Amino acid sequence: MNHFHPIELRCEHSTNPIGIDTTCPRFSWSGPSTDLHPTFQVQTAYQVQVGTSRDQLNRDIPDMWDSEQVESGESTLVSYKGVPLESRRRYYWRVRIWDTKGQSSEWSDIKHWETGLLEQTDWIAKWIGYTAGWNGQALYFRSRFTIESPVAQARAYISGLGYYEFRLNGKKIGNHVLDPGWTDYSKRILYASYDITQAIHSGGNVIGAIVGNGWYGMPILLLQIHILHTDGSETIIATEGGHSMSTTEWYVSCGPIQQNSIYDGEHFDARKEKEGWDWQDIRNPMGDADREAMWQTAVEVPAPAGILVAQDIEPIEVTNRWEPAKCTQLSSDSYLFDAGVNLAGWIRLQAVAPAGTTVNIHYAETLASSHQLSQDNLQKAAQSDSYTFKGSGMEIWEPSFTYHGFRYVKVTGLPGPIDKETVQICQVRSSVAPNGKFQSSHHLLNQIQEMVVQSEASNLHSIPTDCPQRGERLGWLNDMTVRSEQGIYNFHLARLYRKWIDDIADTQDTDGSITDTAPFKWGKRPADPVSASFIQTAWHLCTYYGDRNAIDTHYHAFGKWVDCLLRMTEEGLLNYSSWGDWAPPKAHAIKGSVSDAVSKETPSALVSTAHLFHQLNLLVKMGALVGDKDGATLRLQQAKEIHDAFNKTFWDSNQSTYASGNQASNAIALYFELVPPAQREDCIASLVKAVEKENYHLSTGNLATKYLLEALSLNGQHEIAYRIATQETYPSWGYMLANGATTLWERWEHATGNKMNSHNHPMLGSVSSWMYRHLAGIQANESGPGFSSFYLEPKPAVGLQHIEASYNSPKGPIHCHWQIDLEKFRMDFSVPTNTRAEIHLPFTFPESLKWEQASTDPLSKKPGTYSIGAGHYTITGLLRQPCVYT
Ligand code: BGC
Repeated sequence: MNHFHPIELRCEHSTNPIGIDTTCPRFSWSGPSTDLHPTFQVQTAYQVQVGTSRDQLNRDIPDMWDSEQVESGESTLVSYKGVPLESRRRYYWRVRIWDTKGQSSEWSDIKHWETGLLEQTDWIAKWIGYTAGWNGQALYFRSRFTIESPVAQARAYISGLGYYEFRLNGKKIGNHVLDPGWTDYSKRILYASYDITQAIHSGGNVIGAIVGNGWYGMPILLLQIHILHTDGSETIIATEGGHSMSTTEWYVSCGPIQQNSIYDGEHFDARKEKEGWDWQDIRNPMGDADREAMWQTAVEVPAPAGILVAQDIEPIEVTNRWEPAKCTQLSSDSYLFDAGVNLAGWIRLQAVAPAGTTVNIHYAETLASSHQLSQDNLQKAAQSDSYTFKGSGMEIWEPSFTYHGFRYVKVTGLPGPIDKETVQICQVRSSVAPNGKFQSSHHLLNQIQEMVVQSEASNLHSIPTDCPQRGERLGWLNDMTVRSEQGIYNFHLARLYRKWIDDIADTQDTDGSITDTAPFKWGKRPADPVSASFIQTAWHLCTYYGDRNAIDTHYHAFGKWVDCLLRMTEEGLLNYSSWGDWAPPKAHAIKGSVSDAVSKETPSALVSTAHLFHQLNLLVKMGALVGDKDGATLRLQQAKEIHDAFNKTFWDSNQSTYASGNQASNAIALYFELVPPAQREDCIASLVKAVEKENYHLSTGNLATKYLLEALSLNGQHEIAYRIATQETYPSWGYMLANGATTLWERWEHATGNKMNSHNHPMLGSVSSWMYRHLAGIQANESGPGFSSFYLEPKPAVGLQHIEASYNSPKGPIHCHWQIDLEKFRMDFSVPTNTRAEIHLPFTFPESLKWEQASTDPLSKKPGTYSIGAGHYTITGLLRQPCVYT
């Protein structure tokens, strides 16, 4: 049997997606698992076929597209080039590949994707609402339809602003929560597509939709259902206002959700439930017509200005549920629950109580005393829910249109006794898949990694948010400049980041300016120049996922943003800044500055100018990629001018250091390669001195923390980076952990009270990407986008006995496990098919290195450096310096 076989077929980064609206979908697959195949396999050619049915493909009739045999190793995001696609159609595809011997694999399994509504004119439905409104309450929409002839398939296309829940015949459709993903609704509104074939009954059907305020503030609904009958006829059901001309009547009412707000919480009065409102209640003596008479007629409302776009991101879901780690009874009817970890989500309540009993639920990240929550840091978010019982036996409830950042929950008004089912912790986030694993012999590093992952997981809610608890929860561009690489190592963010780049582009003004947060809600315009994340996230998508779509789409917009920054420069210096290297340890911040968080020692012009240089360099690379040679030349020239101005202004040749000589100034210069070769050694020495001055602790804020660890490890000072990363005293990640943190703090200090002190803030989490990149050594290679080649360059450190890490690359999983036993080094690792690992082990004696697989024949370019293709390998050797264990 030929093991060389394509697996894990994805269309637009997803398996069998329904309702995507690109007219040019892209196909990816991985090569066979390296467990099966000995070594070195690469794909030499591929063939993709697309058909309108599975049967067509099986009969070898690819009626939409046949790429025919293409001599290419490409297996990531191969673009469809067939007959134009139609809306609302399912297409089937398969692929086969050829190996180095020119042998073709079998055809892969057949996969499919389905288009959504490709044109705005495909939307017949109208937005409906109830303009008189019920202040603060969620709206309940209801409609009925009858099915008389058998159904072959049915699809629903739906959006509801701010958030909606879609129900059919009494059951919730899908497991999305807090849908749709947040966008600027005046630009784009996301809709979801559902296969509802099984949910439709023959005869009467009832549609229900509950719509909350979300980020829109006023509930409105849009729904279009297409039912294809077995006889080929079609029934369309769509939201529309008014009775007279309507084919379907839509009713609206308020209901049990009395108040709902993302920040403040949800108040639910179960006595107001309308039993059977979303299903045909044959037991109810009151007929449907009677019930509807008690409802209002929904009216057509003005459509938001944005276009409707398929929600091509992982939906927000309840991704995990668990019992609280601890429960303390505070009084006869009040309890304090400890989730065991800080998170984003809510609780599910399950209890019996007499009608009219109200349970109040307050959420907080920390405790003021052993029995008291501290909600001081929540700013304007109330973070409180309530539930009023209807008194009908066991009642189960969880909120629909809010979420909270919390570890502790105080529940009052709950008549006992309670049991372990009474309160359940629900973690809620964008359901992106985990993508990496990092484990080491150092317990503290493992705890840091867990803390970063939990913070990241708490801050993915259709955008990357800054925090999940206070009245903020925004997509801050400055934080993302240093966070996105960490995010990518830990989660599969190809789709979510792609969407967020569009969110940023939506904020762009004609002058090229973008805003500090996207969607724009808070902060300034123009954004702080450190907001390189607009351009850089697109570059990461290309490097890590091989996806250049964001570059192709926004290359021009990226240029306009950089031009906006260039216009603010004076003699090559960008002296415009709002946050700079934000929130360093207190002693290093300007007292009295915004939240006492602006760096005292790192000139803001240095930070801004360096980030401008960085963005120009990204444009040089992107220009080359998109074939804009003149653009690339221009940006190179501009980058050179910025580089020279930076050095002229900030290099102090007397002190041989940048600016004040602090960690951030030197680390930033080194990380962005702003240091001329002649100054390099001095700059590194100055950086080391700045670390020694702080007794091997950091003095950096959200940005330079990343640059500090990277600059040290990239410039021969890895041991020092390791020492900083594993500190347990203030300021350090170990200090956070020693003080009970389970997610990253916003400040290095253990801050409490009403000042800025989120306890779940991923902006300081770049230590995790540093661990993957330098301790495990798994590094992307910009010249091999999408891991068509990558680096494996682990860097041991004194005290580390082993590291085990994996990263799920587009080519397949990469594993690396190394261990040290006195002077012996051993590394077991795997390289997926269709890529090459560039291995560099300079800390060993090159002549001592041995490959355990006898057949292995790596290409060795220079001693201790290898290039090797697919396979599982073990390499052993002797360390230059025996590691001392602590
Ligand atoms: C956000 C931070 C962000 C900062 C910039 C804060 O309110 O929470 O994540 O870096 O604003 O000013």
